[in-house]
Amino acid sequence: MNILVTGGAGFIGSNFLNLYVPRYPYYNFINLDKLTYAANLLNLKNIENSDNYCFIQGDIADYGQVNRVFEKYQPDIIVHFAAESHVDRSIAGPGEFIHTNIVGTFNLLENCRKHWDNPLEKVFHHVSTDEVYGSLGETGVFTEETGYDPSSPYSASKASGDHLARAYYRTYGLPVKITNCSNNYGPYQFPEKLIPLMILNALEGKPLPVYGRGENIRDWLYVEDHCRAIWEVLSRGKTGETYNIGGNNEWKNIDIVNRICEVLAEELDMDTSIYKKLITFVEDRPGHDLRYAVDSTKVLGELGWQPRENFNTGLKKTIKWYLQNRQWVDSVKTGKYRKWLKMNYSSRMAL
Ligand SMILES: NC(=O)c1ccc[n+]([C@@H]2O[C@H](COP(=O)([O-])OP(=O)(O)OC[C@H]3O[C@@H](n4cnc5c(N)ncnc54)[C@H](O)[C@@H]3O)[C@@H](O)[C@H]2O)c1
Repeated sequence: MNILVTGGAGFIGSNFLNLYVPRYPYYNFINLDKLTYAANLLNLKNIENSDNYCFIQGDIADYGQVNRVFEKYQPDIIVHFAAESHVDRSIAGPGEFIHTNIVGTFNLLENCRKHWDNPLEKVFHHVSTDEVYGSLGETGVFTEETGYDPSSPYSASKASGDHLARAYYRTYGLPVKITNCSNNYGPYQFPEKLIPLMILNALEGKPLPVYGRGENIRDWLYVEDHCRAIWEVLSRGKTGETYNIGGNNEWKNIDIVNRICEVLAEELDMDTSIYKKLITFVEDRPGHDLRYAVDSTKVLGELGWQPRENFNTGLKKTIKWYLQNRQWVDSVKTGKYRKWLKMNYSSRMAL
């Protein structure tokens, strides 16, 4: 069995490979990744020499490259993580999001259509987000039946990818499965996202920038729990179906930032106020969705998946990981990263 993982050098893809390459030595895992700013091959150092793993640097938006990968490796399963994934970057410049998240997804689907003579044994697993559903008010949850209503260029591009994948199932019978997951956190997450950004800024004594008044609510899931849900769906989920994946764990942004300050203070034996005084409210993100909440009843009931971490245990593990992996942290904090942070946050007035 050959499993083509796209975007396997990014946050979730590398956690997925680190979990499953050692566990399934009789499957071959092929990691196709463009190595954008969000990727890091250090994420994969524990598995890079495994006999059942190989890495290919390539762009899913390049049809010819994807075609050559299909010809050489003849994948049976695609786990499609590759994406431009950061909402703020999609607001600053949507082009790459259209290119990778829509054209790239189309290229993969087209290659499956071309190369899979007998699709019965195959799976195209499209990894997507709850952001495709838009924003909730103070109550309610996203179910698999909720209509799509994306707000940002990121979520609109992911929604397009979902629609294409579903259309290839309905039109060509391609064996597609889709998962829409809530916000992930854990090891190897690039520090432009809320949790690692706050951890690393706090450690450097820099401001902790919180959009608006920090009232936006997200559901959070530990990354390995997401990876296990993907594995369950791709191996036992129904073809042509969507599964929502969430942690039943809603937090206001400001409460998360306070909690990070508390855990850091505990871990480093410091006074919490040292970190909390760094919290700075900044001008909100345009089109910032108020609240996301995911109903995971279907994946819980049909496949028996359950998160193993709660937010306390998951956040502690995550913070410890960032404290213990300074080499990784230094490797991602390049000049480009600093330039992006400056560009995104210095133009936002403190409130
Ligand atoms: N992070 C989350 O909270 C979250 C939640 C739900 C769903 N998702 C989805 O999960 C997937 C993975 O997210 P992530 O947080 O790991 O993202 P990430 O930004 O950390 O990693 C994305 C990876 O894709 C690669 N990539 C980008 N463009 C590519 C291209 N054109 N060709 C090949 N590779 C390319 C990058 O090099 C990187 O390794 C995405 O599809 C995202 O939409 C993420």
